[in-house]
This record gives sequence, C-alpha cells and structure tokens, in this order.
Amino acid sequence: MVKIAPSILSADFANLDRDIQKIATADYVHVDVMDGMFVPNITIGIPVVKSIRPVTQLPLDVHLMIMQPVRYVEEFCKAGADLVTVHVESDTEANIQAAIDKIHACGKRAGVVLKPKTPAEAVLPFLKDVELILVMTVEPGFGGQSFMADQMPKVQAIRKLIEQHNPACELEVDGGVAPDTCRTCIEAGANVLVAGSAVYKASDIPARIQQLRG
Ligand code: DX5
Ligand code: ZN
Repeated sequence: MVKIAPSILSADFANLDRDIQKIATADYVHVDVMDGMFVPNITIGIPVVKSIRPVTQLPLDVHLMIMQPVRYVEEFCKAGADLVTVHVESDTEANIQAAIDKIHACGKRAGVVLKPKTPAEAVLPFLKDVELILVMTVEPGFGGQSFMADQMPKVQAIRKLIEQHNPACELEVDGGVAPDTCRTCIEAGANVLVAGSAVYKASDIPARIQQLRG
C-alpha cells in the first residue's frame, strides 16, 4: 500500500496540535528541519519534535536538511523521531555512515536523501543499511514548489537497486506531490509520498490523503 507523509511545513505553526490531528489518517508525520546552511531557509528543530511527539501516534519522519547531521541525530531520536533521514550531500561518506549508525544505536529507523542533481548511485554505499531512501522532487528548502518529473528515472533506478539489495527498504519522494503527480511517483516505484501544500490546502484533508494514495 502507498503511504502518505504530510509535511507539517505547510501547517499553521500557531496551531500545530490541531493541524496534526487533521492528518490522523496518514501514515507518517513528515517534519522538515532546515538550518539555513544546507538549504537557504530555517524551520524547526528538536524542541518542536519533542512537543509534537505526545500529540500523535503516527511515526515521526524527520527530514534533516542540515550540514553534518551526525552532530544532531541522537538528539532528534531522543526527542521522539521514529525515522531520521540525512542528505548524502551534507557530509563525507564516513560521517553519513556514522549518522546512520547512531540512529540505529538509538533503536530508530534511518534513511538517506538525494537532492535532484545527485545521481541514483549515491545511495549505493548505504543501500543495505537503511530502512528508507528519499528522492527529492524539488530543490530542498521550501514547500509549494513545482514537481520535477525529470526525477522519475532516478526513482525507477533506485527501486531496481532496492529490489536487488534490500527489498524491505522504503522509497519516498518529497516535493510537489499532488493529485496530478502522485500516480507518476507510484508508477516509478515510490511507496511513500510526502505532501505539504497538497494536503494542507485541501478543504477535505482525509479525502485528499486518500486521493494521493493513487
Ligand atoms: C522541501 C521539503 C518538503 C516540502 C514539501 O524542502 O522537504 O517536505 O515541505 O512541500 P510541498 O508538498 O508543498 O512541495
Ligand atoms: Zn521534506
């Protein structure tokens, strides 16, 4: 089954509890953490993860768009993240592996993320060791951007690699996912779709979540 991970970046931060209850029929809460260095925007961090942990039973999918994430992964795990994803572009291969190892040592799931210009092969050093791979379908940094259909061959290539080397690994896409773009993602092999504006701008959020499942 296709899973939906609404991004709370499109929620009303003054009413975060209320807006998280609105997505109760989804599969993950997607939390976009930005540091103003790895991406040109600053969003939310560890205290917000800690505050939202008790208000939902959904797993927290924490997407770290920060430099050298190995410095902070344990704190995000302790704050209540269930899945922590780190960008392969944000540090050396050894330090990304160290971040994955720390997440696992905390008993949590780990994933790696690829920016649009990063090729599929960049997952190879980590593929057997992660529970999820996330392919960005926009340049990370902001919600509400246009979907990059040119990322679909990469999603297909990574789906093949997952089937060969780590079939239990999930494949997530993030950016511009909406009713008119969800099918192409699913057909390319994604099984988890992040959606921010498409979920939170909908007048009937549970219906929109269902629609995005394809
Ligand atoms: C972008 C974030 C996304 C973003 C998605 O850097 O990683 O999760 O919130 O928002 P939409 O679905 O509006 O593109
Ligand atoms: Zn994200």
